[in-house]
Amino acid sequence: MTKRTVLTGITTTGTPHLGNYVGAIKPCIQASHDEDVQSYYFLADYHALVKNQDPELMRRSTLEIAATWLALGLDTERAVFYRQSDVPEILELTWILTCSTAKGLMNRAHAYKAAVQENLDAGEDTDFAITMGLFCYPVLMAADILMFNSTHVPVGKDQVQHLEMARDIAQRFNHHYGETFVLPEAVVEEHVAVLPGQDGRKMSKSYNNTIPLWLPEKQLRKAIMRIVTNSLEPGEPKDPDDSALFAIYAAFASPEQRADMRRAFQEGVAWGEAKQQTFELINAELVRGRERYEALMSEPRRIEEVLVDGAARARDWATPFLARIRDAVGIRRLA
Ligand code: TRP
Repeated sequence: MTKRTVLTGITTTGTPHLGNYVGAIKPCIQASHDEDVQSYYFLADYHALVKNQDPELMRRSTLEIAATWLALGLDTERAVFYRQSDVPEILELTWILTCSTAKGLMNRAHAYKAAVQENLDAGEDTDFAITMGLFCYPVLMAADILMFNSTHVPVGKDQVQHLEMARDIAQRFNHHYGETFVLPEAVVEEHVAVLPGQDGRKMSKSYNNTIPLWLPEKQLRKAIMRIVTNSLEPGEPKDPDDSALFAIYAAFASPEQRADMRRAFQEGVAWGEAKQQTFELINAELVRGRERYEALMSEPRRIEEVLVDGAARARDWATPFLARIRDAVGIRRLA
């Protein structure tokens, strides 16, 4: 059996929160220890540039995300962990792919269409504030993926279309220039619950309802105390399946703990008590990582070394592969 190649990118646009941890970081770090998988995880800073044009935020987010993955025990011996912008071959491939990507395909991208729609709704020009970066985003993402012959790409549901586009782009290239790229598959973990935020909607930066992963203990407790509940009194039965607090607790709990909490809800546990237990559970899971995170944040040079090493390993593959691709399209030495 050939090894699976798993690859995913993390856009460096913000501070990691509990939803990122449960939905992406934790499962990827677990997978990084699997011997049958070659994994590539990278900081998608060129993707971040589309949305994030604040240099200080870019630097800070890159540092925080890298420190987070390392603090949580990413196996960097086995997985290749790098910063997208340290692998220039990805951008060269982006242009090569751009030249054989149909504009019509990009016109159909959800993110681009949503931006156009927003303009229309606001009575603006269709192109208002839309950059070529936004328009070409899916091609850069295809290059990320195709560069490493990725077979499996763990992503959220909102990214499935980008994977379909990457397959389209690969197929078109293969058809025209000969078999070059492996067709990747999106891996959408249906059973990994989408974590609700403090207001009960999906935890997301755009809803402003996130709980940052590395809050100091006291602030983490406060943030959990602010999760919305209802006015049911202690002793009144509560519905776990209609509770953001229960969903958040459940995402960190073992099956037994989950069953116990379910029972406690039905038996009318006080909201304050359930929140305290949620805090304790989450804090216990994060306490060691938090220490390592803080240590790493105070020594960015250690993080930089890991990323530089990761980029060198990524390029060990990417450099000769890109040479083959250039040859395939006829960009060759003349003698
Ligand atoms: N677009 C992805 C997101 O917003 C991030 C990303 C960039 C990515 N390149 C990728 C994910 C390649 C998977 C593979 O989440």
